[in-house]
Formats: sequence, C-alpha cells, structure tokens
Amino acid sequence: MDKVTVVGAGHVGATAAQYIAEKNLADVVLIDIVDGLPQGKALDLMEAAPVNMHDRKLVGTNDYADTKGSDIIVITAGIARKPGMSRDDLLKTNANIVRTVAQETFKHSPDAIYIVVTNPLDVMTHLVQKTTKLDSKKVIGMAGVLDSARFQTFIGMETGFSVEDIRAMVLGGHGDLMVPLTRLATVNGIPISELLPQAKIDEMVDRTRNGGAEIVKLLKSGSAYYAPGASVAHMVEAILRDKNRLLPCAVLPQGEYGLKDVYIGLPAVLGREGLKKIVEIKLTEEEKEALHGSAKSIKENIDLMNELLVAV
Ligand code: LAC
Repeated sequence: MDKVTVVGAGHVGATAAQYIAEKNLADVVLIDIVDGLPQGKALDLMEAAPVNMHDRKLVGTNDYADTKGSDIIVITAGIARKPGMSRDDLLKTNANIVRTVAQETFKHSPDAIYIVVTNPLDVMTHLVQKTTKLDSKKVIGMAGVLDSARFQTFIGMETGFSVEDIRAMVLGGHGDLMVPLTRLATVNGIPISELLPQAKIDEMVDRTRNGGAEIVKLLKSGSAYYAPGASVAHMVEAILRDKNRLLPCAVLPQGEYGLKDVYIGLPAVLGREGLKKIVEIKLTEEEKEALHGSAKSIKENIDLMNELLVAV
C-alpha cells in the first residue's frame, strides 16, 4: 500500500492530504508539531471517506516514527506569506524548519521521494537535497504545476474555452522572475497569440507572476491552498502511477539549458523513481535570458540562506 507523508497540517498540507486520499492515490500520514492539529484534520478527513467513497487511511501525528517507510514525503511545513511579504522574506525561518523536517523524515524513510512545497520554493528544494544528500532525481519542488495551472486558468477566463483544452507551461523559479512560455501556450494546439491580443497575453503573464500574491491579498491572512494542494496531488499521482507525465517542476539540471547547481522549474518527466529526465527544448534568446535571470536570483538566495544557516 503506498504511503505518503505530508509534513505540515496547515491549509496546504491538509488540502494536499485531502486530494491525495480522495483521488485514491495513497494512505496519508499528516504530521505537524502542533498537538491535535494533524490528528483533528486527519480524523475529519477519515470521516469524509464514507461519503466520498474511498478506503484510504489518514493518520494525524506529532511523531516522526509514524512516517516510517513512506514512498513520498511532501514538505509544506513553514510559515506562509503575509500581505506585503515576499517569498524570500520567509527564507530564514523556513530554512530552519525545512532542514529539521528533512533530517527527521529521512531517518524513517531513506528511500522516499521528496516533493517540496515550502517557500521560497526553489531554495527550500535545494536545501532538502543538500540535507538528505539524496540523488537529486528524488528531490523535486512543486511550483511549475501551480504556476502553469494559474496561467491556464487565466487563458480559460480570457478566451472562454474549457480549461480541458488549455495547455501552458511556466518555467523558472517560483517567484516574480518565473518564465511563462506564452509562445507554447495553446488551446488544443492553437497558439494563444491567434486568439488573444498581445496586450491581453502580457496582462495574463503579469497576473500569473503575481498569482500567489493576489490570493494572499484577498485572504488577508495566509496564502493559497486549493490550487497548491491539487498541484501536489497531481505530482504524487504522476510518481506513484509511473505516468511519464511531462510537468514543469523544480529540478536540479546537470547542464540542461546551460544550468547547473541550482534547483529551478524545468520541463520534467516524472515516474516511480522520481525525476526520469529533464526535457530540453529550444528556447528563444529572450526566454533563455529570462530563465537565466531567474536562476541567478535563486542562486543569490541559496547563498543568502547558507550564510543565515551558518549564523544560527
Ligand atoms: C503561491 C504561494 C504559496 O504561489 O507561493 O500561492
């Protein structure tokens, strides 16, 4: 029986747990440091199972021993952004939390594949790989699926077509410098440039870049969780069902796109062993430049994190 541990029983963690169970993907262990929170949410989700017709077990716990033998570890633990706070402001607090979580979970599930969700996403994914020393194929960050889903949503809103026909990929880091590939966004193969004026496309790109902040501003406290939770479940499904899905994920390139030593969103093939391969496509000069700009900003944050972590 596949087992997924979700670390962090806040909105993102609990919603990821919900989608994973309701899509009948795996049993779920929800773990948090707050006493009662994961237990309460896991029990509540178990009590939804007879209505939603699945037999997945959900366990809430404060004890890492209960996560033993997980196939996938999803890390959502950390503080969320408050209005006006950038993802990078979260760096120090979340680095300390994520490092501890990586150490503790790894002790009990040395063979697990990690999906990192905590922000700043690309930097935290890098930290998990460095901490566990796992093969980078087994440590993947969730952001591209979410950012692409937002872009697809906006294309759907603007064109009026079903999101089922809309495909688009957002590469780069999960931050203001993300790289929505407008050139390759289509409605059932028709480039969006055939359907929408450039000004509209530019607007959607901006809205996508600020998609997380738009939700933070509306919610006033906390950040998005339905689309992030759904995006996690989508990656869990691709991995556990060995689907060969081609999804934008934060992965560690080994020279692809001229990049190395930096986790960043690239087209990735996911399967049972984690990252199967990074698919390298030809980018325009402008796209390449944007991708490298994004990589540079992630690298700066990795350096900053290393200084902060040493200082603690
Ligand atoms: C978002 C935050 C969580 O994109 O990064 O919603």
